[in-house]
Amino acid sequence: MSLFDAFSYRGKRVLVVGGATGMGNATARLALDAGAEVVVMDYASADLPGTTAVHVNLADAKSIDAAVAECGGTVDALFACAGVADGEGIERINFIGHRYLIERFRANGMLPRGSAIAFISSAAGLAWRSNMAQLNEFLDIMDFDTATAWAIDNKCAHYMFTKQAVCAYVAREAMGFITDGIRINAICPGPTDTPLAQANAELWLDFGADYRAKVGVGAATPMEQAYPLLFLCSDAASVVNGITMITDSGYLSAGITEAFPAGTPMAKMLLDG
Ligand SMILES: NC(=O)c1ccc[n+]([C@@H]2O[C@H](COP(=O)([O-])OP(=O)(O)OC[C@H]3O[C@@H](n4cnc5c(N)ncnc54)[C@H](O)[C@@H]3O)[C@@H](O)[C@H]2O)c1
Repeated sequence: MSLFDAFSYRGKRVLVVGGATGMGNATARLALDAGAEVVVMDYASADLPGTTAVHVNLADAKSIDAAVAECGGTVDALFACAGVADGEGIERINFIGHRYLIERFRANGMLPRGSAIAFISSAAGLAWRSNMAQLNEFLDIMDFDTATAWAIDNKCAHYMFTKQAVCAYVAREAMGFITDGIRINAICPGPTDTPLAQANAELWLDFGADYRAKVGVGAATPMEQAYPLLFLCSDAASVVNGITMITDSGYLSAGITEAFPAGTPMAKMLLDG
């Protein structure tokens, strides 16, 4: 035993939802390297050697039920990484499906005391505090189909709202989760070089490029986002609960404080909506 073992995943079982590519894939590889047994769930085929692949479509509650049954057992860390930028089903894929899966795990006793959950939200979800009334109305609807219908009827089936929902869910449910010995957190990544970002390169990877050029950093790599994700679900983070950690190399903070005035209007928009 060493003090640093609190960061280790030796003897732990980890589930990565959305682990076929991008940040989820980096998270699965890192967890494996840290000593975990890893289950990767994804819509796309996941073929990471040394892991167990389970097919899931987060837009379909029945598919999630089947994936939960196939996973079985308990998990010590659940990483909710899957997401899309747009298209039909975005409200389910980015949030409702993840929540449904987590709640199934919880109801089945598959998240024991000491386990932890980490979501990938986005800088696009940071204005959640200023939209709490609407988010509470949505989050109060636990039923999969009713929540989906609400999101569509209220014109909330879009990227920004789904990411706000993730941040608000993490914040408002953290107390209930920790009462059961489970922690829940999220990261809000800045631009990260993944297949999803490449497919939306002008919007996603150009975002904050002026700041990164000024301070001499690049867009994040998927592994650079996996590091904080693994920390959040490790025993080393045992008092970290209910937070959305901003992982953007300091862009937002520089904008808020006007250390980087060119980023201030964007920081205000991201925070205030
Ligand atoms: N890349 C960025 O710059 C960036 C920035 C902020 C937040 N994010 C968020 O990070 C998360 C991971 O995205 P990424 O950039 O690594 O992209 P990615 O496309 O590489 O990963 C997303 C994964 O989700 C899976 N997925 C998509 N639809 C699914 C479905 N219906 N059921 C199950 N799995 C499904 C994909 O197959 C893929 O493996 C997303 O939630 C995204 O919104 C990305």
